[in-house]
Amino acid sequence: MEIKTSRLLIRPWKDEDVKHYLAMSVDVGYNCFTPPGVYLVKDEGEALTKVRLRIKNFTDSGIGKFPIFLKETGEFIGTCGADKFDLDGKQEYELGYRFMLNHWNKGYATESANALLDYLLKDLKLPQVHAFAVYQNPASLKVIEKVGFTYLRDFMWSNLVHRLYIKSCS
Ligand SMILES: CC(C)(COP(=O)(O)OP(=O)(O)OC[C@H]1O[C@@H](n2cnc3c(N)ncnc32)[C@H](O)[C@@H]1OP(=O)(O)O)[C@@H](O)C(=O)NCCC(=O)NCCS
Repeated sequence: MEIKTSRLLIRPWKDEDVKHYLAMSVDVGYNCFTPPGVYLVKDEGEALTKVRLRIKNFTDSGIGKFPIFLKETGEFIGTCGADKFDLDGKQEYELGYRFMLNHWNKGYATESANALLDYLLKDLKLPQVHAFAVYQNPASLKVIEKVGFTYLRDFMWSNLVHRLYIKSCS
């Protein structure tokens, strides 16, 4: 799997991405709107373990959150992709994205989300994908709506009210 958009390259994780994992784990923008410490690792060895888990998840399922690079410079800028989540006792897929602070507001979330939705709904033929964000995260809600999700309802996730959306294969 390798996805190219006009400005971005999205591909599965490799061992050599450990340096990118370490960078994102301490980036203030990347870590916004997630509980403190979720991506924090104590050293390079632990980061490599996390990267290898992502590699294994992708090998097993073809799905995961992928690293994103600028085509022009090769710079790592964030991640986008899907993970399973439990919705009312049923396994569904959630589209998610996170970018390093220096790369916010350049349209990269929208560009990568559109590409990932094509991959998930057309290539992998998932019947539907969900997305959700808190009311306090207008940039994420804007992206969700720009890439064509439909609002379903509010629901609780991580003890916070989130707006829940769906996009179906059509
Ligand atoms: C949410 C996030 C991924 C958006 O990435 P991005 O590449 O900046 O998004 P885009 O540039 O594609 O689009 C952002 C849109 O939100 C708008 N926006 C940004 N900040 C906003 C704000 N405070 N209020 C309202 N709209 C805002 C932008 O103007 C843009 O809309 P436009 O294209 O109509 O101008 C990025 O801010 C991020 O990584 N945040 C931290 C992690 C996170 O919250 N992930 C999502 C968890 S649900």
